[in-house]
Amino acid sequence: MVSCALSVIVSLLSGAYAAQITTTTRQSIHGIGASGAWWVNDIALFPAEVRQNISDLLLNQSWGVGMTDYRYNLGGGGVGVGTWDRAPETPYVSDGVYNWSADAAGTFFLKEAARHGVPIITLFVNSAPTTMTNNSENCGGTLITERIPAYAQYLTDVVSYWKTQGVGITHVSPMNEPDDSFGDPTTTLCSQEGMQVVPEQRAELVITLAATLKAAGLATKVIADESSSTGTYIADAPIWLNTTVGKSLGANAHHQYGFANATLQQQVFEEGRNLSGGVPTWFTEICCYSATDESEASDPLAAIAWGEQYDPTMISGLRMANLIYESFAYAEDEHWDWWTALSNGVGSCTPNNSSCWDDIVADGWDDGIIYYDPNYNETQYYELKLTKRFSVLKHFTKAAPVGSIRRAVTPSTDSAEANWRTLAFDYPASSREHKSYCGPYGECHQTIYSVVAMNAQWNASSLTLRGDDAFALTQPTTVYRTSVTEDYVEVDVPVLGEDGTLVIEAPEMSIYTMFFK
Ligand SMILES: *[C@@H]1O[C@H](CO)[C@@H](O)[C@H](O)[C@H]1NC(C)=O
Ligand SMILES: *[C@@H]1O[C@H](CO)[C@@H](O)[C@H](O)[C@H]1NC(C)=O
Ligand SMILES: *[C@@H]1O[C@H](CO)[C@@H](O)[C@H](O)[C@H]1NC(C)=O
Ligand SMILES: *[C@@H]1O[C@H](CO)[C@@H](O)[C@H](O)[C@H]1NC(C)=O
Ligand SMILES: *[C@@H]1O[C@H](CO)[C@@H](O)[C@H](O)[C@H]1NC(C)=O
Ligand SMILES: *[C@@H]1O[C@H](CO)[C@@H](O)[C@H](O)[C@H]1NC(C)=O
Ligand SMILES: *[C@@H]1O[C@H](CO)[C@@H](O)[C@H](O)[C@H]1NC(C)=O
Ligand SMILES: *[C@@H]1O[C@H](CO)[C@@H](O)[C@H](O)[C@H]1NC(C)=O
Ligand SMILES: *[C@@H]1O[C@H](CO)[C@@H](O)[C@H](O)[C@H]1NC(C)=O
Ligand SMILES: *[C@@H]1O[C@H](CO)[C@@H](O)[C@H](O)[C@H]1NC(C)=O
Ligand SMILES: *[C@@H]1O[C@H](CO)[C@@H](O)[C@H](O)[C@H]1NC(C)=O
Repeated sequence: MVSCALSVIVSLLSGAYAAQITTTTRQSIHGIGASGAWWVNDIALFPAEVRQNISDLLLNQSWGVGMTDYRYNLGGGGVGVGTWDRAPETPYVSDGVYNWSADAAGTFFLKEAARHGVPIITLFVNSAPTTMTNNSENCGGTLITERIPAYAQYLTDVVSYWKTQGVGITHVSPMNEPDDSFGDPTTTLCSQEGMQVVPEQRAELVITLAATLKAAGLATKVIADESSSTGTYIADAPIWLNTTVGKSLGANAHHQYGFANATLQQQVFEEGRNLSGGVPTWFTEICCYSATDESEASDPLAAIAWGEQYDPTMISGLRMANLIYESFAYAEDEHWDWWTALSNGVGSCTPNNSSCWDDIVADGWDDGIIYYDPNYNETQYYELKLTKRFSVLKHFTKAAPVGSIRRAVTPSTDSAEANWRTLAFDYPASSREHKSYCGPYGECHQTIYSVVAMNAQWNASSLTLRGDDAFALTQPTTVYRTSVTEDYVEVDVPVLGEDGTLVIEAPEMSIYTMFFK
């Protein structure tokens, strides 16, 4: 009788609606971060202590957001670009001749990333130097095929130089959105650097660069092609990507500016991995979205598309979290980057006006995780605005350090839990020693798995978590929460029930990271 009653309980639990953490392991995670494109030029004019604070807020591995990837933008020189802060200097003088004093603004943060021990450092390029583009500018042109070897040598020389300076660049991206030259047909100047690399050139560029890096004794891997959207990715990949090219590729990188739904992402990037012979996919850029349907503007799970808006609130924060969730759980990407770490895209808002600075402004841009005053020269206002995206990103850098492995979660089928999203990560013993595994209170070396769960709705809600037949959930050790009123604060740890379930009672619009021993 007793065993019969027990089996009834077990089968009831098996059929229960809670989100189930399984033992099925999927992709490993290799870096979560953002780029140093453009804001570095403004920040070079800020007081030194603010610049240092920005470095610590982004890159310190034990507090702040603790990014595990930093994307350094190697400039082409900004020729043809009309926006001064988007015209980075280049070390390139002529083939084989370099000026290593160039781009002090950008290299400050590159060196900081190395000093902080950021595990993945990516060097990415919007445009090759002007001697390598067919319009002799850093936007509006196309990479010259005959100059691919020289371009590969230049990138290799830059990586080799930084290695001598103690900066280990782990990945190089030789083309960022090569489907777009960023030429502006309506004006003579462009708004940013860009360079078209037609699909027929991409295989040669990847193979040549990988071989040149290897010949220089570098372990740096090539990532490509950073297509703008699933649409451009899937149109171009069959032209340039195959299993031979895949051998020269460290990661199969893409952006997601078409905001494809989770199902489409799953299909497109699985197809990309198949074409390349299994090279992992990386999500390397996204920003700048708003709800497609205005009536759903406050719903964090609404369909979103490219659009203007400055939103430092939890709505945009949870939209970012949902993009990460879809990238990891559906596209099965191994890496995730937000576009740019800092921005001044606050539209018509001024920092002395809290009714917009802390709220949604229609004419700004959701392109940074930290904001600063665009008029700092006149106002001398150098304070920083940390958005909710800053705190939300930390939930993932901490939960999914480099080398962690995603565990499949069977989503809850309970309609009361429909607005929850849950991810889990295993910490293999081999990588548990890494610095990026350590939380602010020294919980490194102890955690064996973590869970990120978000309540994406304007309502308090509870989520029941459980293991499956092969895995019993354990008692969490530490739990952090970001909500409308909190930023990655340590909260009371829920107690594991005798039935092996864990119930999280969450406030509206909140996200949790839980560490388990
Ligand atoms: C190197 O770049 C720095 C910074 O732009 C500049 O001041 C300097 O004149 C350049 N040196 C040479 C030799 O071009
Ligand atoms: C990161 O922050 C911790 C705590 O403030 C500090 O001890 C450590 O030196 C910082 N790391 C670096 C590389 O500055
Ligand atoms: C550069 O190459 C592209 C692609 O082949 C071509 O469309 C464009 O006209 C060329 N531009 C110049 C200035 O030659
Ligand atoms: C892959 O593409 C490269 C470059 O276009 C080509 O040289 C190679 O033959 C192709 N390999 C396969 C297996 O199709
Ligand atoms: C996802 O997007 C594709 C392409 O737009 C569409 O065909 C499909 O119905 C969508 N799927 C879902 C589940 O919304
Ligand atoms: C990828 O390859 C596997 C194994 O051949 C196949 O089952 C799957 O359908 C392919 N996926 C896509 C999206 O092409
Ligand atoms: C903010 O300061 C500017 C002058 O720098 C002023 O014109 C504006 O009215 C101020 N706004 C508020 C809300 O105080
Ligand atoms: C402050 O911002 C609000 C909201 O964007 C705007 O309506 C108002 O005009 C601003 N006030 C000033 C003084 O600029
Ligand atoms: C700030 O002033 C510097 C010169 O000190 C200038 O180069 C820069 O363009 C100015 N920035 C803005 C945003 O006006
Ligand atoms: C760094 O910036 C944060 C966010 O604006 C602020 O709270 C903190 O006081 C600053 N720290 C230093 C040392 O300036
Ligand atoms: C919050 O939950 C209650 C009870 O389930 C429901 O009636 C209400 O519509 C929900 N509110 C929102 C904003 O979703």
